[in-house]
Amino acid sequence: MNRIKQVILYSLLRKPKSFWELLAENQYLLGDFVKAVNDLYEEGLIKEHKGKLSLSKDAKKLLNVNAAKFYAEKCKCCNGKGFVLSEEFQKLLKTFKRISKQHPPILAEFYQGKIIPEDTVFRVALMHKYGDVVDKNILLIGDDDLLSIALALTNLPKRIVVFDIDKRLGEFIEKVSRKYKLEIEFVEYDVANPLPKEFVKKFDAFSTEPLETDTGFKAFIARGASCIKAGGSGYIGLTALEVSFKRWAKFQKMILDNGFVITDIIRNFSWYCDSEREEEREQYQEFVKALNFNPGKPRTWWYASTLIRIESLGKHKAPVKWNKKIKIIPVDEESFTHPELYE
Ligand SMILES: C[S@@+](CC[C@H](N)C(=O)[O-])C[C@H]1O[C@@H](n2cnc3c(N)ncnc32)[C@H](O)[C@@H]1O
Repeated sequence: MNRIKQVILYSLLRKPKSFWELLAENQYLLGDFVKAVNDLYEEGLIKEHKGKLSLSKDAKKLLNVNAAKFYAEKCKCCNGKGFVLSEEFQKLLKTFKRISKQHPPILAEFYQGKIIPEDTVFRVALMHKYGDVVDKNILLIGDDDLLSIALALTNLPKRIVVFDIDKRLGEFIEKVSRKYKLEIEFVEYDVANPLPKEFVKKFDAFSTEPLETDTGFKAFIARGASCIKAGGSGYIGLTALEVSFKRWAKFQKMILDNGFVITDIIRNFSWYCDSEREEEREQYQEFVKALNFNPGKPRTWWYASTLIRIESLGKHKAPVKWNKKIKIIPVDEESFTHPELYE
């Protein structure tokens, strides 16, 4: 039996779960996951009742029933992060949640999403833990999660610059900055274009949730690598749902070949919110039409990115030089949640 099917069956052996809860546990391509669930359903190994999937009698005969007792539950207090937020961060989170509620509507055109505010604050806490916040110049390449605001609310960084193609984000960040007296510089910039020279080698750290196609990933990482100084660091979100492990290997090689070490890979560090707005939510859920049963409505977060931290070993390079253009193909055959794939 293949690994995806095995993981699904043993997870259901523990207890019945919705399609969305199983998806949240999945570590493989969304397309492969949908196929595995459909196959198990068609083979009569799993059944659906009132939005919950469970094992059939036949499936139970195939499994080692003792395995359910050894199931590894996610740590509830830190949600798998390995540390907790301090009291000061908890206070900051309250303010940040209020601010991020006003976030401009997300646009599929720029492949925007939004990480839950808790996980954005966890990212700041992790960056701080690793010495990448206090008195540092920090660059955010794409900022639909408003990490710039969460960072600025600590009052710890020296300089925060945001690059984003979407000028609405710039207007929003500016409005919030005026109200809360924060200092954030916004630059309307498309990573496909050469970098403005004044940003080259000016930063200590960058953070990004890049486009995940080959060209998209390369462009975001190239700009980050060009902008950080020797010894600087990068925080990169990458999903397993829309990037196969073959391409993960390619991306890891690109990182290593350019003079960086990968210091951390923290699975599912950042969970994406389902927007409160129905039409925004549904545009990323076209893939459910391929299911042979009704998965019901998601009542859980199901889309997450893994956080990869990299550090320059000194003489790092960028995979594309700062003054060169990059041709970006933003959607490919693994972009399963993008509406364009179904047009
Ligand atoms: C690429 S999107 C997030 C993608 C993420 N991996 C996901 O699956 O949801 C992150 C941010 O990058 C911005 N962005 C998208 N394309 C861009 C481009 N070509 N240049 C600069 N920023 C871009 C978006 O506006 C957004 O704020």
